[in-house]
Amino acid sequence: MNKKDEGEGPNKHVMTVPHEWQHIVSQVLITPSEIRKRISELAVQLSTVYSKQNPILIIVLKGSFLFASDLSRALPFEHEVEFIKAKSYKGTDSTGIVKISGLESANLTNRHVLVIEDIVDTGLTLHHVYDRLTEAGAASVKCCTLLEKDTVRRHKDSPKPDYVAFYIPDKFVLGYGLDLDQRFRHLPFVGVYKQP
Ligand code: XMP
Ligand code: MG
Repeated sequence: MNKKDEGEGPNKHVMTVPHEWQHIVSQVLITPSEIRKRISELAVQLSTVYSKQNPILIIVLKGSFLFASDLSRALPFEHEVEFIKAKSYKGTDSTGIVKISGLESANLTNRHVLVIEDIVDTGLTLHHVYDRLTEAGAASVKCCTLLEKDTVRRHKDSPKPDYVAFYIPDKFVLGYGLDLDQRFRHLPFVGVYKQP
């Protein structure tokens, strides 16, 4: 991994795309060290709100699996985890259909829940997830997302994520959980998809 400081600010890291991913990634948008640093900051921020609430992290699979596992281990307070699946995408286009599964066995009555998302794009997924969690009797519903996309396609019913690790431009991204048709979730950085 080739990382160098460009002198554009104390935490501005630039990383060249590793050779083996240059066919699919045009630019590394967020480096592993930037991710680690933001997660530490979010853990401190979240502890001021949740440290006495034993919240349930609602981890939205598959995209948030790496972010959630790193964030969960960084949180200095007791919490539980539940996993749900939300599927809304095929390739780089939204189908507008959101299917949610996995909440059937969770007891959320009067519990504070924090949805852990990979990315909020149109916000449709989050809108449907919030509806289901509210129906399930949660005491409070908030969202912590790795990425929030700056897009004009944001749905009018989209909830506003409460905690955002990184704001990104309206580009399709891959890595650190995010996929292209199930591929490249394992990349340790967030990169911009290189259109063929
Ligand atoms: P919405 O539009 O419902 O989207 O907020 C949420 C889901 O869409 C997927 N998504 C992406 N996946 N790169 C990806 O790999 C992207 O740039 C991207 N934008 C949206 C993702 O599954 C997310 O949970
Ligand atoms: Mg996806």
